[in-house]
Amino acid sequence: MSFFFFFLWGTSISAAQAEGGWNEGGKAPVQVDFADVGSASSSGRHLIYKKKDGSKGELTGAYAMFPHLPEGGEYASFEDVYYSNRKASDFYHHYKEDIALMAEMGFSTFNTTISWARIFPYGIQGGVNQEGVEFYRNVFKELRKYNIDPIITLYKYDEPIYFEQTYGGWSNRKMIDEFVEFARVCFIEYKDLVNKWITFNEINVLLLFRNLPHNQKIAQERYQELHHQLVASARTVKLAHQINPQNRVGCMMAGMCTYPLTPDPVDVMENYKYFQDIFCYATDTMIRGQYPSFAKRMWNEDEVEVVMTDHDLKDLKEGTVEFLGFSYYISQCRTTHTDANMTKGNIFTGFENPYLQKSEWGWQIDPLGLKYYMHYIYDRYQIPLLIIENGLGATDQVEEDGSIHDSYRIDYLREHISAMKEAVEEGVDLMGYTTWGGIDLVSASTGEIEKRYGLIYVDANDKGKGTYKRIKKDSFYWYKKVCESNGEDLK
Ligand code: BG6
Repeated sequence: MSFFFFFLWGTSISAAQAEGGWNEGGKAPVQVDFADVGSASSSGRHLIYKKKDGSKGELTGAYAMFPHLPEGGEYASFEDVYYSNRKASDFYHHYKEDIALMAEMGFSTFNTTISWARIFPYGIQGGVNQEGVEFYRNVFKELRKYNIDPIITLYKYDEPIYFEQTYGGWSNRKMIDEFVEFARVCFIEYKDLVNKWITFNEINVLLLFRNLPHNQKIAQERYQELHHQLVASARTVKLAHQINPQNRVGCMMAGMCTYPLTPDPVDVMENYKYFQDIFCYATDTMIRGQYPSFAKRMWNEDEVEVVMTDHDLKDLKEGTVEFLGFSYYISQCRTTHTDANMTKGNIFTGFENPYLQKSEWGWQIDPLGLKYYMHYIYDRYQIPLLIIENGLGATDQVEEDGSIHDSYRIDYLREHISAMKEAVEEGVDLMGYTTWGGIDLVSASTGEIEKRYGLIYVDANDKGKGTYKRIKKDSFYWYKKVCESNGEDLK
């Protein structure tokens, strides 16, 4: 059996990690524009800021988990720091060439995000930045020129820093109106070009604070922020359908496939609870239109009170999504046994599985886990799934003749696509598959561009040196066969 004829094949990138042009075309800065490059072996990077006394301050974090600046701190640039997201892969200046390469691979879709800071650099009060609107219009037109049907994500943790400075971020309800207005402008402006939307990228990562020792203040803040994002998403879904009945809107979750490390029933329960808390809390709300029954248990455990209005609950009920997008890179184990070893991931941390191999960055590779996870979540939600991120971050070597033999990446992708095919053959409804970072981009957790995910190499290093020239890797030619054969030819 093969995939449906309208199955979507492509890749996924994000504005903050690929676009660059951080202060061009009227775009305002976002938090990650002030982040440095972390080391290859750790998964930490820093947000660099100016302290009250003028000295340099550092806060450790990673994308969604960057903290707010402390009182008196200011966003400022330091000459001795390389800020890798500012130029990223320079998609801002290379998009025509990049899209032509995607078309050459036979893509039927492409997922990227719209940077909120290009459209509303200073919120509603500052007005729409027309240059930003035109930039994305040109990108989408270019995609349509090659019959590539875009799937566009509205939010990936890169709101203008103006919102942090003015409202203190998402814990303020005003962010809901700001977001809905941003979405409204996008739906209207791109009505004829885009009809597949994702509201929030990996919205569930806001709950990862639960992996850390209990801190009531942080918990209260995160639940409230998440509630505001869930309501903003629901309102946006309704709006999308009002503006264009052809619009299809999905959610996007960080797929966190876990297994109990031991058959100890306590571990089995611990693992299930993790799935409920970190995955289902937000996913149930977005798909079923209400918080799950176990939400009360979570609020009690975390000693929080989430402020919500009756209108919020009505919005959640009416603004449910139509498909479930998710990312999948690794699997991990959960256990209550204290002698277990931790394993690596970006912000998703858990315990080592002795049966799995690891990537150069210590991430556990588990293709069968993808099939298992697809069944697991499809059984629960029964709406089409979309694998929106999957890929291998690795170091690539450019040979003297300019070729790049990334057989490790081909192996990773082949095994995951095979597993996904099996799940489809066994009844899972899957809309499409987009590899992560088809054009090398800046890693979210470390800031490195040399942690490469691409099918297309970008000639740049972790110090920002290079020509930014695009080079086709072996995986480019391989994935082209996959797309053109609708997943039949995986050799
Ligand atoms: C996903 C994020 O969870 O992981 C991406 O949505 C990120 O933005 C990807 O790039 C891979 O993680 P990393 O840290 O290797 O970039």
